[in-house]
Amino acid sequence: MRENAAAGERARLFFALWPKRGVRRGLAGMAAHCLAACGGRAMRPQTLHLTLLFLGDVPRAQIEQIQQAAACVSGKPFVLQLQQLACWRHNRIAYAAPQPAEDGLLSLAAALRCAMERIGVACDRQPFVPHVTLLRNIVSCPETLAMPPLAWQVDEFALVQSLSDGSGARYATLASWKLQ
Ligand code: 2AM
Repeated sequence: MRENAAAGERARLFFALWPKRGVRRGLAGMAAHCLAACGGRAMRPQTLHLTLLFLGDVPRAQIEQIQQAAACVSGKPFVLQLQQLACWRHNRIAYAAPQPAEDGLLSLAAALRCAMERIGVACDRQPFVPHVTLLRNIVSCPETLAMPPLAWQVDEFALVQSLSDGSGARYATLASWKLQ
């Protein structure tokens, strides 16, 4: 009972870039290609995203303030060139990444971190390593995975809530903001 009350008072949040249909299809195709080489479980296409900043479990009462702070973050649209396909052994993930990462992406992630710090939201302290998780629980991690580059036109970012149900994580976009 207490646990349920606590879960209801907090929400697991992160800022992310969410691809539109064309890029989502491209990423899902990459996931299918990787699956043959790596094994594991492909992310459902509608859940594919690039996390900008993970906030963790935040009091619901603070969501409005988070949204107001995010609305003050500005940035120009940019094109992400996803051209690296690779795996991490430590968490058994296969991912696609922009390599090197565009300045627009790095500045947006940094500006969001600053905005959250300013309002006292304790975010993840890990350095920003931009990636789109394609597979989880991989069983092998090939040295090289080839991919044709995928260009992703980014013109907005979103605040997303992670909700777990029996079938894994589900994501709900709470708000999004245009880059202009
Ligand atoms: P991942 O795909 O590499 O696991 C929602 O969980 C999103 O936040 C995922 O994109 C996840 O990255 C990212 N994330 C970053 N730090 C996290 C953390 N400490 N716990 C859970 N997810 C985290």
